[in-house]
Amino acid sequence: MSLPTRSLTPAPPDPILGLSEAFRADPRPAKVNLAVGVYVDQTGTTPVMPSVLEAERRLLARAGSKGYLPIDGRPAYREAVRDLVFEPDHEIVAGRRSVTVQTPGGTGALRVAADFLLQTGSNRTVWLSEPTWPNHTQLFSLAGFEVRRYPYLDAGGRHLDVAGMLSTLRSAARGDVVVLHGSCHNPTGVDPDPAAWHAIGDVLRDRDLVPIVDFAYQGFGHGLREDADWQAGLARPDLEFLVCSSFSKNFALYNERVGALTVVATDGQRAAAALSHLKIAIRANYSNPPSHGADIVETILCDGALRAQWETELAAMRGRIRGNRAALVDALEAAGVAGDWEPLREQRGMFALLGLTAEQVARLRDEFAIYAVGRGRINVAGLTEANLPRVVDALRAVAGG
Ligand code: LMR
Repeated sequence: MSLPTRSLTPAPPDPILGLSEAFRADPRPAKVNLAVGVYVDQTGTTPVMPSVLEAERRLLARAGSKGYLPIDGRPAYREAVRDLVFEPDHEIVAGRRSVTVQTPGGTGALRVAADFLLQTGSNRTVWLSEPTWPNHTQLFSLAGFEVRRYPYLDAGGRHLDVAGMLSTLRSAARGDVVVLHGSCHNPTGVDPDPAAWHAIGDVLRDRDLVPIVDFAYQGFGHGLREDADWQAGLARPDLEFLVCSSFSKNFALYNERVGALTVVATDGQRAAAALSHLKIAIRANYSNPPSHGADIVETILCDGALRAQWETELAAMRGRIRGNRAALVDALEAAGVAGDWEPLREQRGMFALLGLTAEQVARLRDEFAIYAVGRGRINVAGLTEANLPRVVDALRAVAGG
């Protein structure tokens, strides 16, 4: 017996996490990591949020048990997450027509969503934005979907191509799955406005499509509720959809792998039936979720004062990102770097897509030790007063000015 032939040919490194490995191995002292989407502060570190530390202290004092969690996670966590996604008085919550399961990170939620859909007879076609987070493509393909693309950006690469997106989605077959980024689109930072969300919701409903909202950055754009503005278009009585939440970013719990999948159905009975299938998808995949990260999130969300503290800390991260956006745009414009930079100022979340060629991104890395993803996706949080002038000089060198 031997391993399958293809396993003996090395696969390429991951387009995002692989860059972190290359960055770590880079001996140049002035290197700048703008690649992976992890929040860093002005000192370049990813601190544990004080509200998280306080929750951990409380958990330690309580000395719980390390017994298995239920397959779908702890009920209080599931309810707290549902209320964070929607608000307790939302019609979906009041009507009890959603179910939420705990998952290992947002990626775990996406995988459970994919398995759940395929195992319950979904169409095998999934539509992803072009561009999107590269792991979407890999994850849905390996789960068994055929991946198709809808256009996302206009020709200038700075604004949403609403017409192109809608007309492509109108061509999808009834029952096809559509992945949408709830806020802080990765990699572009370009989100639909409420009117566009309405138009998207109309097409999804009219064409009987199944939306999966990847909601990994709630609170990193304009605010916890502001970033949920997709609900204005999608949360309607006759549209069923899935929401994948991640708490890697907004609780800075990257290595705890904590997230959730919410399925919204038209009524409670359909939601309950969906839950029974979600449990099978989870049990077959990783059996039941890890506890610690979810315990932290639950502790914070269920305590008024601690939650207020967390929201303040989250607002500080958001504010720093927005400040960095403004500083970047000001510096690029002041240096006369060729390009249309002003729209980056008001885009949402950690990412800005500079719109570079693969060669330009390679030059940034090879000549200037500046790491970016794909066509120049940068993590705006990685900019500091110290590295910004060097980043702007390097961009002028590769993009012209
Ligand atoms: C990113 O896009 O950089 C983050 O979501 C981290 C990841 O897992 O790729």
